[in-house]
Amino acid sequence: MGEIVSFPNKFWWGAAMSGPQMEGTEDKLHENIMDYWSKTQIEDFFHGVGSKITTDFYHRYKEDIQMMRSIGMNSIRTSIQWTRLIKDLETGEPDKKAVEFYSNVIKECKKNGIELILNLHHFDLPVELLQKYGGWANKHVVDLFVKFAKTAFRLFGDQVKYWTTFNEPMVIPEAGYLCGFHYPKKKNEGKEAVQIIYNINLASAKCVEVFHDMCDGEIGIILNLTPTYPRSNEPEDLKASKITDLFYNRSFLDPAVHGYFPEELTELLSKNHVLWETTPAELDTISKNTVDFLGVNYYHPKRVKAREQVLEAEQWTPEQYYEEYEMPGRRMNPYRGWEIYPEAIYDIAMNVKENYNNISWFISENGMGVEGEEQYKDSEGKIKDDYRIDFYKEHLFQLSKGIKEGSNCFGYHAWTGIDCWSWNNAYKNRYGFIGLDLKTQKRTIKKSGNWFKTVSENNGFVMEEE
Ligand code: BG6
Repeated sequence: MGEIVSFPNKFWWGAAMSGPQMEGTEDKLHENIMDYWSKTQIEDFFHGVGSKITTDFYHRYKEDIQMMRSIGMNSIRTSIQWTRLIKDLETGEPDKKAVEFYSNVIKECKKNGIELILNLHHFDLPVELLQKYGGWANKHVVDLFVKFAKTAFRLFGDQVKYWTTFNEPMVIPEAGYLCGFHYPKKKNEGKEAVQIIYNINLASAKCVEVFHDMCDGEIGIILNLTPTYPRSNEPEDLKASKITDLFYNRSFLDPAVHGYFPEELTELLSKNHVLWETTPAELDTISKNTVDFLGVNYYHPKRVKAREQVLEAEQWTPEQYYEEYEMPGRRMNPYRGWEIYPEAIYDIAMNVKENYNNISWFISENGMGVEGEEQYKDSEGKIKDDYRIDFYKEHLFQLSKGIKEGSNCFGYHAWTGIDCWSWNNAYKNRYGFIGLDLKTQKRTIKKSGNWFKTVSENNGFVMEEE
């Protein structure tokens, strides 16, 4: 007999997904940057699969919601696509067909007893707003986003209790403006990235403000908190780690929960002449509109060391303070190239408890993408993904430890329910509890899906001893 790993009453068991990765583009009046990227540079996407059909949730949402319920989910998150809901991006006028679609999704969740969490932005800026205004670097885009949010709250705010403003906002400047792996694929544009960080924080706070004026529910933000660990306790490594944490985690976490940016961060940016443009009124909005709850996406830690060589870059970039550190002996998911380190979930739980007012929070994404899962199919076509079950057990074990020590966590959502499309990896790495045959769109529950049902029903599981 092993150890019983249990969770608080009414714990959310479920999964996250997003509109752009699940729905397909049919009936959309606008393209988001991911649609545009995959349409114009399809060679960037694994096996040339773009966003046109993806997992066809637009047509199959009923079957999908029922299937997710059948494997024990009591809650799911998806996103409303700005490019689907809104007909006129300048006024925020909605499109009828989109309203019908999202209303139906909401109804189907209700019918199945599923708590639906609606997110407003999952990397899916309308490409027109990038081309016309320069995207998130422009504060007019912030105002247009708030118009979209108001429309969504007006239409669905009385039917959906839990909302989130952004999914992993840091990925927008990091992947799109510093590292160049998401559209618009810019590199080392430090100043623009910094303004985007600020503008998105402002957009999120403005949405929180209008939400509380219009609705009775709760609103949060989903952050990819990537705990940062230094190579050693030498002062240079500690400094590298501190700056990395300030920039990649705390630049969103502190304003979202505390209502202000860390002083050390603004000092650093200011010293380097890249501090964002701001006004006292905007800072006041940020300070008065902190989130009701926090969603934390956790996949891997960030290990860093002091730079060994000076980085030659034309512009300021956070990378000039650190280098990635490959810790000897680290465990890797070779398909995604991410380290597997479940203990970080415990560290996140303690950080939220000790430094962020023990705000109520949930794991909003955690998962393991694996390539070539067909090789694990049994004779009946079921994928025996024991590696995924082990991955989840280890992470849940660490989470339960944090909860026992008082961290205020109310749920666990995996990434993801049904295999879905990804930003340039397309369908290479599969994450779902439910497998997808891309040719036929047939869905088949994996072994991990059956396992998840038992975890949800028992509100826990037994962790066998090694
Ligand atoms: C998160 C995102 O970063 O990780 C998802 O919110 C994404 O949209 C998931 O799909 C897994 O990452 P990837 O790049 O392997 O799809």
